[in-house]
Amino acid sequence: MKKIEAFIRHESFEPIRTELLDKGFPSLSITEVKGSGRQKGVVETYRGSTLEVNVRPKLKIECVVSDDDVKTVVDSILTHAQTGEVGDGKIFILPVEDAVRIRTGESGEEVLQAHEESEMPE
Ligand SMILES: Nc1ncnc2c1ncn2[C@@H]1O[C@H](COP(=O)(O)OP(=O)(O)OP(=O)(O)O)[C@@H](O)[C@H]1O
Ligand SMILES: [Mg+2]
Repeated sequence: MKKIEAFIRHESFEPIRTELLDKGFPSLSITEVKGSGRQKGVVETYRGSTLEVNVRPKLKIECVVSDDDVKTVVDSILTHAQTGEVGDGKIFILPVEDAVRIRTGESGEEVLQAHEESEMPE
């Protein structure tokens, strides 16, 4: 299992979401974040404290999938988030030990995403 953590522009989320739903990946989380990439925040000193300014708003997507599905999800993100301009964002892939569906107590890869037609969305 892996967690795909992607920092993207807000406007690329809807097309990514639509494609992931189509491909059987309905389960994800998003958070509005602020950050900077290699262009750095501009560092300012204000009354003795160092402040980071110009951190930019981004959307963070977190999506946990089986190892076999990592490429599919990463490709969907790239398809819609890549403009070629600086600040397109970044994708991190992290190992995940286990997952537990609280409702049933079941664990493992089966709890991650909906692949079966019989598993109807809630
Ligand atoms: N190493 C990192 N660790 C944590 N978050 C990061 C890292 N790199 C980028 N981010 C997050 O991703 C966002 C987008 O980064 P950004 O696209 O500017 O990366 P970059 O490496 O500077 O690439 P580019 O040159 O295309 O701008 C940042 O605002 C930040 O929220
Ligand atoms: Mg950057």
